[in-house]
Amino acid sequence: MPPPLPLLASPSAGRPLRVTVVAVPLGIGAGERGELEAILSAAERDRAARLVEPVRRRFVAGRGRLRRVLGAWLGADPGRLVFEAGPEGKPFLAGPHAGRCHFNLTHCGDAALLALSPDAAVGIDLELTAPAHTPAWAEQMAGSILAPAERAAFLEHPAGLRPAALLAAWVVKEAVVKGTGAGIGAGVGHLIIAAPPPHASLVTGTLPQRVDLAPVAPPWHVCLLDGAVGALAALACPGSVCQLQVETYGAEDEWPGRSPTADR
Ligand SMILES: CC(C)(COP(=O)(O)OP(=O)(O)OC[C@H]1O[C@@H](n2cnc3c(N)ncnc32)[C@H](O)[C@@H]1OP(=O)(O)O)[C@@H](O)C(=O)NCCC(=O)NCCS
Repeated sequence: MPPPLPLLASPSAGRPLRVTVVAVPLGIGAGERGELEAILSAAERDRAARLVEPVRRRFVAGRGRLRRVLGAWLGADPGRLVFEAGPEGKPFLAGPHAGRCHFNLTHCGDAALLALSPDAAVGIDLELTAPAHTPAWAEQMAGSILAPAERAAFLEHPAGLRPAALLAAWVVKEAVVKGTGAGIGAGVGHLIIAAPPPHASLVTGTLPQRVDLAPVAPPWHVCLLDGAVGALAALACPGSVCQLQVETYGAEDEWPGRSPTADR
């Protein structure tokens, strides 16, 4: 187990990072499914073919809509975007658009969130609450998700609040390891959330809004995204205070001409 890594340190100065979170529903009609499949790469289509429903449909929707959003941001043909993956599988843009937009996708059931930034790597995680998330489940999971120093505070929560507290810690830590690209292979129990992360609103179906995030975790800043009923989500990005914009994936004509490098 690596030594504990505090997620809280003194705030760093610097230019605010711009991050957009797009809520992406993974339901698709038959007609759009064919269109989305057509813009996937050969490797993505092979991967989809190996999946069983409904996971296959969700993968096609997630990757296809990721391509459409990125294509609109970059003014590029979604079907010609080139993705490569880091050593632990984090996809990133390669080819002619390499480095122009950082992104990270999370999905749970039919819901997905896509984080995009022209400035820096981002990590995002979404978990849906479920009846299986009982206090006993939370106490069991706490052994692997929480650092020893965090467990006493966790047990101070009334039993009924422990599942939500555990899920919040889980999404915050997973957002960080997805931001770094390390993934959860090395566990997350060595990460310490040294102060409650700020909350930002995740508002779907409305006009975009901006939220300034308090600096929480140099080099990683984390916030919990509120607003989705029955779900917990967190966003992580490196650097100083972040300007967060929240949008909802909609008709394609809502996305033309977006440029992540423009002053938004
Ligand atoms: C990344 C990881 C945390 C995802 O956990 P999860 O809760 O099941 O999934 P989420 O919905 O939050 O995120 C999945 C998405 O994250 C992205 N992703 C994949 N690997 C990633 C990584 N190492 N870091 C950040 N994001 C990653 C992908 O876009 C993926 O979506 P896709 O499968 O549709 O392409 C987990 O799979 C992991 O730790 N992977 C690394 C370890 C590993 O499997 N390595 C194999 C080397 S290829």
